[in-house]
Parts: sequence; C-alpha cells; structure tokens
Amino acid sequence: MADFSGRCVILTGACGGFGEAAARAFAAAGANLVLSDLAQAPLDRLAEELGGRVTAIAGDITDPELSLRLVEAAIAEFGRLDVAVNNAGIAHDILPLARIPLEAVRRTIEIDLLGVIYAMQAQLPAFEQRFRDTGETGAIVNVASVAGVVGAPMLSVYAAAKHGVVGLTKSAALEYARRGVRVNALCPSFARTPMATDFLDKAGGDRDQAEAALVQAIPMRRLAEVDEVIAGLMFLADPASSFVTGQTLQIDGGLSAA
Ligand SMILES: NC(=O)c1ccc[n+]([C@@H]2O[C@H](COP(=O)([O-])OP(=O)(O)OC[C@H]3O[C@@H](n4cnc5c(N)ncnc54)[C@H](O)[C@@H]3O)[C@@H](O)[C@H]2O)c1
Repeated sequence: MADFSGRCVILTGACGGFGEAAARAFAAAGANLVLSDLAQAPLDRLAEELGGRVTAIAGDITDPELSLRLVEAAIAEFGRLDVAVNNAGIAHDILPLARIPLEAVRRTIEIDLLGVIYAMQAQLPAFEQRFRDTGETGAIVNVASVAGVVGAPMLSVYAAAKHGVVGLTKSAALEYARRGVRVNALCPSFARTPMATDFLDKAGGDRDQAEAALVQAIPMRRLAEVDEVIAGLMFLADPASSFVTGQTLQIDGGLSAA
C-alpha cells in the first residue's frame, strides 16, 4: 500500500461514491486531507469519522475562488500540497445529443470541464512553487471517465467534457514534466456509485435489465466495484509512480481495448 504519511491531499467530490472511498483510502495511508463537496454537513460527518487531520470546505467547483481556497487551506493547515484529486462531477440524463437541454449542456461542461480547469489553475502554481523551493514533486489525478477516451452514445456532452479533461491532462503533463508535477487522468467505466445507480434508475424499466444492457459493452460483463477504481487512483497519486505522467488509466473491464 502507498504511504502518504505527512502528505497533503486535496480531494473534491469527497462525499460521492469515488470521493468518499478515496478519502478513506488516503486517510488509511496516513494522508492529511483537504476535502470539498457541495454541502458542509456531510463533509463534516466524513471528516469526523476519518478523524486525524482533515479540513473540510464546502463549495461549488464552478466557482474558481473555491479552488484557490482549497490550495490556501492545504498550505495554511498542513504546510504543503502533495496530491490533488479533481473528482467532483455530474452526468446528464441519457439522451441523444440533439435533445439534451441547453441548461444540462452548460452545467455538465461547467462542472466536468471548467471545474477541472479552475482547479488546475489554482493547484499548478502551488505545486511548481514547492518544487522550486524544495525539489519535492506532486501529482494531480483528474477523474475523467472511459467516456474521455471513447465515444459514449447518449452521454455525448459528458463525453465531450471528459475528453476535454483528458486533453487538459496530457497538455498540462507536458507543460509541467520538468516542473515538479505529474498529471494523469483516471478513466473508469460504470462503477457502483450513486452516479451510476441514479443513471440505472433513470433508464426506466427494470434496474437489473438496465444493468445487464449496460454491461453488454464491457468485455468483463459487469460494473466496476468502487475499490477497483480507487486502486487505480491511488496508483496514479502514489509518489512511487514517479515516471508516470500524461497518461489515462482506463479501469473499464477491457471496454476501451475493443
Ligand atoms: N460512477 C461511475 O460509474 C463513473 C464512471 C466514470 C467516471 N466517473 C466520474 O467519477 C467522478 C465521481 O463520480 P461518482 O460516481 O463518485 O459520483 P457521485 O455522484 O457519487 O459523486 C460526485 C460528487 O461530486 C459532487 N459534486 C457534484 N457537483 C458538484 C459541484 N458543482 N461542485 C462541487 N462538488 C460537486 C457531488 O455532491 C458528489 O458528492 C465524476 O467526475 C464522474 O464523472 C464516475
């Protein structure tokens, strides 16, 4: 298991399926955490449960000020920033592109793409400064999706945002390859989180049937378990993965290999 003792991790979307599991994994590995999500109360509950050194700051990732505050909190509370996991995200309803309501289009791009851009704009200078001052390197893990590397019919705007995150990840990785920051994208297929279960519930009809139809496209013919995804996230964040940058890590039961 990776050792994050004394390291500081910013994690957004911390109260969601992947976020909460990642928070637990980082806490178990000894990290200090700056957690963020939309509402303060569930964040505080999670922080209390995790014990140890956790700062919880609620806010909307579409507000660039939030990302600046998270970086400031990492430095103020823990004196450093080692890892940033840009995980907050939404999916729009399953619809053909021409029928996705404009408000859903805007909101998806705003949260899933602009939110990551704002976060990285706040994080990269802090990582770079620390590298200049101490020679220590950091890592950004952007939680994209397998829809960031292959097309996703009926989820086209989500796929556009996630492809954007992958482009951003590769470009920033190249910009910062010699400036102390590794930047990678995690690209899971459907995993059993509230996002995916809501998606199945909205698919109409029987939930099991909807799941069976969904996994038809996945060579392993099943959803991912959250822990399988978090294992990949921890790998990308791990300081031992020190030569891994600009990559997408698909955790997709073989989907993108086809
Ligand atoms: N679950 C999957 O199958 C799956 C697959 C591929 C990629 N992803 C990606 O993984 C990430 C996490 O998804 P999840 O499955 O844990 O979803 P989730 O819905 O369980 O959690 C998402 C979290 O993000 C938060 N959030 C939403 N909008 C926000 C905003 N504007 N500002 C701040 N926080 C906001 C939510 O409150 C929630 O806690 C997302 O980026 C998602 O696109 C999920």
